[in-house]
Amino acid sequence: MSESLLPPIGMLAELTHRCPLQCPYCSNPLELLKANRELDTQTWLDLFSQTADLGVLQVHLSGGEPTLRRDLEQLIAGLSARGVYTNLITAGVGLAEGRIEAFAEAGLDHLQLSFQGARPATTDLIGNHRGSHEKKLEAARRARAAGLPLTINAPIHRHNIEEVPEFIDMALSLGAERLEIANVQYAGWALANRNVLMPERAAVDRQAKIVAAAQERLAGVINIDFVPPDYFAIYPKPCMGGWARDAFIVAPDGTVLPCHAAQTIPSLRFERFGERTLAEIWADSAAFNAFRGSGWMQEPCRSCERRDVDWGGCRCQAMAIAGDAAAADPACIKSPIHERLAMLIAGTGRAAETAAAEEAFIYRRIGVADVA
Ligand code: SF4
Ligand code: FES
Repeated sequence: MSESLLPPIGMLAELTHRCPLQCPYCSNPLELLKANRELDTQTWLDLFSQTADLGVLQVHLSGGEPTLRRDLEQLIAGLSARGVYTNLITAGVGLAEGRIEAFAEAGLDHLQLSFQGARPATTDLIGNHRGSHEKKLEAARRARAAGLPLTINAPIHRHNIEEVPEFIDMALSLGAERLEIANVQYAGWALANRNVLMPERAAVDRQAKIVAAAQERLAGVINIDFVPPDYFAIYPKPCMGGWARDAFIVAPDGTVLPCHAAQTIPSLRFERFGERTLAEIWADSAAFNAFRGSGWMQEPCRSCERRDVDWGGCRCQAMAIAGDAAAADPACIKSPIHERLAMLIAGTGRAAETAAAEEAFIYRRIGVADVA
């Protein structure tokens, strides 16, 4: 590793693509991997050991639904033994009796639970899973009873944006320490469903005011994080905190990625864990170095005063909308194609009017990769 390259702080381990829910906003790739492509227990443990050696402080255990891995307790214990902070990102559906308690016993530090809606009908519709809302409420209660700090994650789009006040009440009633009001990012399945998920501007403005007022009113009671929607922004967010800057992702088959949508950039080739060590991949992989820092930038980013603030935004969004992964993120007002986002927002109302939401969703399922 070169002297100027810092070690990563965080890692997101996608333990599996299997999931009992079928959310159309999922950021997983359209080509979901089947169970027989997943790394085995010992390989994940070796990978986690190298992750700790690399200096990573936090590992987010995600998927798909990570609790479908029967060895999850073992994986948590492996990380905990190395002093790595563990956050379990779960949909909270299909958890057997005693499982959450076993995760806590194995050393889990934190649990993040997603809710597709604040109302049962919305949760069940978006996840395409009847009864899921009740199961999630039960998972939240069990997590708190097991002494685990809890974050409620609310991915926001046009079908639940009016439920933001109810999300806040629900998070308070469940004793959550944190609520994430996270507007959906259009990658993976969310990109395939963009027309039916995109909210209207008036709803986005109402939402921002409600969240700002709640953040002030509930300061010291609950932390409310707000991830604003890219398509309505003036400047982009620093996606992943900057490409290959302080975090990386490992897919279920051990492919090491700078971000969850990186495989949509056709010019890049990614390495699998085992062919080289994590430290070698982090430092030397051509894909990790392709957009690291600011040396790769073109105008307008190259001479922009924000280039070390947002790192040019999201490479995958630039690829999806500009057709060039090295272009400025089109969410940026300085992008020559920024108006295309406004056209995409304007186009969504018509799509939603002409089709009932449940008919229009492309639900996330393994083996439906030809939807795009
Ligand atoms: Fe960020 Fe590039 Fe826009 Fe500047 S021009 S704000 S660096 S995306
Ligand atoms: Fe790939 Fe943003 S999702 S850089």
